[in-house]
Amino acid sequence: ERAIEPGGNALKAWEALMEEARGCRRCPLWQPATQTVFGEGPLDAAILFVGEQPGDQEDLAGRPFVGPAGQLFDRALAEAGVDRAATYVSNAVKHFKYEQRGKRRIHSKPNGAEVEACRWWIERERELIRPPVTVALGATAALSLFRKQVTITRMRGQPHVLADGSEAWVTVHPSFLLRIPEEDRKRTEYARFVEDLARIGARAK
Ligand code: URA
Repeated sequence: ERAIEPGGNALKAWEALMEEARGCRRCPLWQPATQTVFGEGPLDAAILFVGEQPGDQEDLAGRPFVGPAGQLFDRALAEAGVDRAATYVSNAVKHFKYEQRGKRRIHSKPNGAEVEACRWWIERERELIRPPVTVALGATAALSLFRKQVTITRMRGQPHVLADGSEAWVTVHPSFLLRIPEEDRKRTEYARFVEDLARIGARAK
């Protein structure tokens, strides 16, 4: 397995990693998916965000968080004063998992084995980038980062320490906010999400 050479060119190593990820066969999700959606952003990013998995639009575009959840994420980041372009954005699982219903492809949650198989990639990304702050967006990202099931509501709002000694935060996934039907609750939960992002942004300054 590839090791990143100390003192090597980080960008070259990242490009090689992304190239390698294109052909990933560590789990069966590559087969129905259009392409691998690798992380993106500056390699000296102070914050690395981890989502769940690419959605329908990300699968087609080949880029993370460009669909509805990504647009909400962008808006919340801007309101929190965090520049997305200065952060690295990736996913716990790099292929879109879905169920075909007629013409529509319905998002299907990755299982524990798929998250575990794909952890290899996020670990390599984190080794290369060494972000001072890593953020899990939702339970799947948190499962990947902490290697155990965690309760978002119990873990959000405070820093945690990862195995490598760096700081990790947990907050909700933007898709969770999109799914809230009641306008009042949606507003409140969105404000909490922005608050979390602002607090995280302040830690990474
Ligand atoms: N949801 C995610 O978790 N990641 C994406 O890239 C898009 C939607």
